[in-house]
Amino acid sequence: MANEPLYKVPTNHRLLLAARPVGVPGPENFTADAVPARAPAVGEVLLETLYLSLDPAMRSWMSEGTSYKQGIPLGDVMLGGGIARVLHSCAEGFVTGDLVQARLGWQTHPTIAGRYLQKLALTLGSAEDWIGPLGLSAVTAYFGLRDIGGLRSNDRVLVSAAAGGVGQIAVQIARIEGCRVVGIAGGAQKCAFITDELGAAVAIDYKTEKDLSAAIARACPDGIDIYFDNVGGPTLDAALEHLRPGARVVLCGRISQTHAAEPYGVRNLGRLSAARGRMQGFLVFNYHDRYDEARTWLAARRRDGSLRQRLHVLDGLVQAPIGLGMLFRGENSGKLVVRVAEG
Ligand SMILES: NC(=O)c1ccc[n+]([C@@H]2O[C@H](COP(=O)([O-])OP(=O)(O)OC[C@H]3O[C@@H](n4cnc5c(N)ncnc54)[C@H](OP(=O)(O)O)[C@@H]3O)[C@@H](O)[C@H]2O)c1
Repeated sequence: MANEPLYKVPTNHRLLLAARPVGVPGPENFTADAVPARAPAVGEVLLETLYLSLDPAMRSWMSEGTSYKQGIPLGDVMLGGGIARVLHSCAEGFVTGDLVQARLGWQTHPTIAGRYLQKLALTLGSAEDWIGPLGLSAVTAYFGLRDIGGLRSNDRVLVSAAAGGVGQIAVQIARIEGCRVVGIAGGAQKCAFITDELGAAVAIDYKTEKDLSAAIARACPDGIDIYFDNVGGPTLDAALEHLRPGARVVLCGRISQTHAAEPYGVRNLGRLSAARGRMQGFLVFNYHDRYDEARTWLAARRRDGSLRQRLHVLDGLVQAPIGLGMLFRGENSGKLVVRVAEG
C-alpha cells in the first residue's frame, strides 16, 4: 500500500461538452460523468470547487471557435472560472484549506498546477465577494468605464443590461464617481432594483418601451457622455442618437446578437462624427496585470457601503447548464453564479 494517498480520494463530478449549441445553450449540450479525482503531481493541487461564475462568453467557447479563443473540444470538461478550496497540495505556497480562484472547469474536484491558481486575499473580501463584487464581471465594469470610457465626474452615463453582473457594478461605479446614471433593463423588477438599490436616476424597461430612442431622450434630456454597451443591436443604435459632444461608447458586449440569424446593422454611426465621439471595445483579460488595482478600489467601496452586489445563486453543479441559458433569456437578476459546495 506504499502508493496509497494520504487523503480520501473524492469523486470528481464533471460536466462535459457533448454537443455544440444551436440557439440558447442548455442541458442537452452536456453529459455528466463521475471519476476519481486525479492525484496531484509535484507542483499541483487538488481542489474542491465552491463557486462557478456563469458568463455569456461561455456560449461562444462552446462553439467551434471565436476570433479570440479556440472552441472547447467535444468531450472535454466545460470551461469556467470560479473559487475553490485546497484539499491537498503538492505545490509550494498552498496548504489545505487555502481559498483560490482559477479556471476550474465545470467539475467538483479539479487538479490544477499551482502556477495557475491565485490565492484569495481574504482581507479584501470573502469567497462570495470574490465571485461577486471582486470577480471578473465587476473588474470588467471598472476598466470598461475608467480606461475605455474615460469616466469623469458629472458625466451623463447610460448602461444597458444594467441589472446584470457587469451592468450593476457599472451603474454604481458611475454613481459613486458623481455621474448621473440611467440604466436599461428588461422588466419592472429589474428597473426598480436599478433605481432603488443601485442609485440610478432613471431606469428604462426596454421590453415595454415601443420607441427606445424616445425613452432615452426622456431619461437623458441632456444627452449621453458615456454609453456602456452590454447588448449591442438596436439598443446601441438608439443610444448613438443621443451622444453629447466628446461622447465615449464602451463596447463591452453584444448579448442581443448572440442568436441573431443576421447581425443587426448599426445605422447611427454617423452620430459619432457629429459628436466627435469615439467607440471602443475591450476584453477584460488584457487588464490582468491591473486586476489588483480594480479589486482594491471595489473592496474599499464594499467596506464603506457605497457598492452593493446582487448575486443570483443556483445550487449544485447540475444547475450550470440551466443557468447558462438563463443569461440569454434575461432570467438572471444580478451576477449569476453556481454554488457547487458550501464555503
Ligand atoms: N468585454 C469583456 O471583457 C466582457 C467581460 C464580461 C462580460 N462581458 C459582456 O458583458 C455583458 C453582460 O455580461 P454579464 O455576465 O454581466 O451578464 P448579465 O448582464 O448578468 O446577464 C445577461 C443579461 O443580458 C440581458 N439580455 C439577454 N438577452 C438580451 C437581448 N436579446 N437583448 C437585450 N438584453 C439581453 C438580460 O438582461 P435583461 O433582462 O435586462 O434583458 C440578461 O440578464 C455581456 O454582453 C458579456 O458578453 C464582456
